[in-house]
Amino acid sequence: MPALNETFEVFVKSVTHEAKGILAYELRSHSGEDLPPFTAGAHIDLHMEGAPVRSYSLLNSPSDRSRYVIAISLNEKGRGGSIYIHKNLHCGDTLTIAGPRNNFPLAENARRSILIAGGIGITPIWSMAQRLTEIDAHWELHYGVRSKDCAALLELMEGHPLNRAIHTCYSEGEHGEFLDLKAIVARDNEHTHFYCCGPVAMLEAFKEATRELPAERKHFESFSAEHEASLEGGFVVELARSGKVIEVTSGQTILDALLGQGIEVMNSCREGICGACEVPVLEGSPDHRDSILSDSERQAGKTMFVCCSGSLGNRLVLDL
Ligand code: FES
Repeated sequence: MPALNETFEVFVKSVTHEAKGILAYELRSHSGEDLPPFTAGAHIDLHMEGAPVRSYSLLNSPSDRSRYVIAISLNEKGRGGSIYIHKNLHCGDTLTIAGPRNNFPLAENARRSILIAGGIGITPIWSMAQRLTEIDAHWELHYGVRSKDCAALLELMEGHPLNRAIHTCYSEGEHGEFLDLKAIVARDNEHTHFYCCGPVAMLEAFKEATRELPAERKHFESFSAEHEASLEGGFVVELARSGKVIEVTSGQTILDALLGQGIEVMNSCREGICGACEVPVLEGSPDHRDSILSDSERQAGKTMFVCCSGSLGNRLVLDL
């Protein structure tokens, strides 16, 4: 079984038109053996020549180890990864991937879970809904999307035995409306865990609506960067294991500086989303710019994502 950050090959068993601008890819092992295990909320990284490495959430149930299923929404304003994949990844192709990795795990012992998805953010959320069904946990799902023809996984959800627990909300059209996150969160019963995956505006609304709730009961994942990377530079990074001191100059991320000195650091999205470049911090105060850490994790300052985060002081000591 490959290690977490090791790449391995799969092949594309099928490509399905899921919704307007969204294709689903079913990936299987060449040998027919099970793929490495994953937990609901996990993602894999796609390594395709000609495209930036990008992370995509697995949408199938973790109990189905025979395949990984991802759905990719065409993003004309992105870094070109989705456009390239839509054009160049076909049935039968071999694909290099890494992972699965999970920055958005389920609290499986929760008595009740409310799952909230915006647009293509439905992918990890749907994996969670399937897992919660399998462990007989109580859940409901709120899915906000522009219109029915843009709504991925709708057919699957409509055919689900618990489809009455799924509430869809369309924002376009004469009667268009947005999910009322405050009203959804107000149904909190002190044991409920809340999950949200969607665009930045939805995550902001989610954070606002759950502001009073304890951190351990609110969980979110962004599929686009919430913050600009720190490119101010003007500090040094000391590598505790080798004693090397690397200068981070203006216009560079820490990752740029490390790679520029030949220091290998695992990385993937380079946007603070996937978690690949996490490094323990031994001294100093990181300027966190990722979309992964909770407020309390940021304050603790024990770890950072070097692809996007910088330093508040003039020196950081990293466990590298
Ligand atoms: S490379 Fe993805 S979080 Fe840094």
